Amino acid sequence: MLYLNGEYFDRIEDGRVSVEDRGFQFGDGVYEVVRVYGGKPFRLAQHLKRLEGSLDGLRIPLPEPVSKIEEVCRRLIAGTSNASLYLQVTRGAAPRVHTFPKDLRPTFVAYVRAIQGYPDDKVFRLAVVRDERWNRCNLKTVALLANVLARQAAVDAGADEGLFVREDGTVTEGTSSNAFLVSGGRVVTHPANHRILDGVTRLAVLQVARDAGLPVDERPFTLQEARAADEFFMTGTVTEVMPAVQIDGRPVGRGTAGPVTLRLRDAFRELVRRECT
Ligand code: PDD
Repeated sequence: MLYLNGEYFDRIEDGRVSVEDRGFQFGDGVYEVVRVYGGKPFRLAQHLKRLEGSLDGLRIPLPEPVSKIEEVCRRLIAGTSNASLYLQVTRGAAPRVHTFPKDLRPTFVAYVRAIQGYPDDKVFRLAVVRDERWNRCNLKTVALLANVLARQAAVDAGADEGLFVREDGTVTEGTSSNAFLVSGGRVVTHPANHRILDGVTRLAVLQVARDAGLPVDERPFTLQEARAADEFFMTGTVTEVMPAVQIDGRPVGRGTAGPVTLRLRDAFRELVRRECT
């Protein structure tokens, strides 16, 4: 089911948006992907908060009050089981000029799709990709060309996900996931600043790690550290907690899913069970 600017449609294909929508012409918009487990959204409030922050960063007004957006989400989710809920707000449609016209009505689209999730034994192989993105990666914008090209390059190289590395050797995140290493029992991930998207899953994993008494460092780390780590894993709404066993064809640690990673994955699943029942 699809919601588009006040109307519900049975089929996603039935939604129609102007060719002069600024999302289409400029990538001028933001989005969210929310996971639905057994008909319950995981941390919807956090996703909506982040959506508000992304809109604010782009100076796009809220398309509807948050309570109305939440109601739309609930109505779309009703009757689903395991699904992903996609929300997108673009600045709206207007004759193409770079400056944004005043009083434009944002285009708000939301829909759900059933998803399976990855099998239990899935692991990621990573390929290093140059992080050439802008300095506002904390905003979840639909302008994803750098991520799209990086993911394609990673997959073309035989990997599952690209690992963004800056010119100075710092690892930031994946093309649609956050990156963590485990070294000497410590869990390390890039701090939530303008260089990464502060993932909802990232925060949940930090929470379960701290609850388990694991020392956690939110600090930048280098590709060299990543290669020398005991374990590596990626997190995301679709990715959940995913062991990453290779970087550019070379094993990380033992080259298999590590014990701390699997423990955190179990703890994350337990958290989901608690919150989504
Ligand atoms: N991506 N970093 C980037 C660049 C992302 O695009 C995402 C999510 C994440 C993880 O955030 P979260 O845990 O809130 O899903 C990190 C979504 C799923 C996507 O683009 O499909």
